Amino acid sequence: MEINPITGTFGAEISGIDLSSEISETLAEALRDALAKHLVIVMRNQPLGPDQQQVLTRVFGEPSVNPYAPGPDAHPEMTSIIKEADERTGVFGGGWHTDLSFLDNPPGGSVLVGIDIPPYGGDTMFCSQQAAWDSLPEAMKDLLENRDAIHVGKPYGIRWAPPVEEQAMKESTKRNDPDADRERFHPAVMIHPVTGRKSLYINPTYTHRLDGLTEAQSSPILNQLFEHCTLPEHCLRLRWSKDMVAIWDNYSTQHYAINDYHGFRREMRRATFQSAGIDAWRGKTSARAS
Ligand code: SIN
Repeated sequence: MEINPITGTFGAEISGIDLSSEISETLAEALRDALAKHLVIVMRNQPLGPDQQQVLTRVFGEPSVNPYAPGPDAHPEMTSIIKEADERTGVFGGGWHTDLSFLDNPPGGSVLVGIDIPPYGGDTMFCSQQAAWDSLPEAMKDLLENRDAIHVGKPYGIRWAPPVEEQAMKESTKRNDPDADRERFHPAVMIHPVTGRKSLYINPTYTHRLDGLTEAQSSPILNQLFEHCTLPEHCLRLRWSKDMVAIWDNYSTQHYAINDYHGFRREMRRATFQSAGIDAWRGKTSARAS
């Protein structure tokens, strides 16, 4: 097994392994270590069916069902992300976000497999929230430590529902859920339970305001932070190929699906796993830590 970093900050490509055969405990341990260290890991030429993808996903945690885009009965933790060649809508995940950060216990990460890849475009961008934290000025760190950020499920609720023409996967996605508008408090700074590294835990899709500040007071601070998180130095951009697999840590990164392949079909299969539980990520930075 060879691990080659993709950028100087985060992300690694792993070669010399076959994920379609049995995954030994030694390999599972090496994959978990690689994810904890690199936050996004990529393996090419891994033709996985749904059952094999499920086995791989379980290496990282118990399956986690997306309540707004569940998969079929056999694999409810798997969401098919499809944009047809003739669709002119937005795409699923087409804005910077961490998956479902507005839930009480957001998922720990996902295993995404390339099924049908356009000849160009359809890349996925990631940014490291650890790199973003590390490069913040101390005064901003002081403002954020011991503070919660408040998240709401804007795309799935009523109050902030996006225009219909921008909504992706209309048939398979649940929307207009009043519970998605409910505010959830999570630490603005998370601590990785394995490496102890700190990361920002905010994203422009779901983070609404900072605790103790109004929306108007939070907005300029949050907007500046969102820009900071996605500076080129904190990002990597993945060009997909069929049967490529990418696995990400959903607490220490954000991602963004680029919608630049009109006229071509793209299909991905995403299986999501649970986190160690949000309390495992609180460390001592949250006012709510017990
Ligand atoms: C997502 O999981 O948000 C979408 C990723 C992608 O389709 O590239």
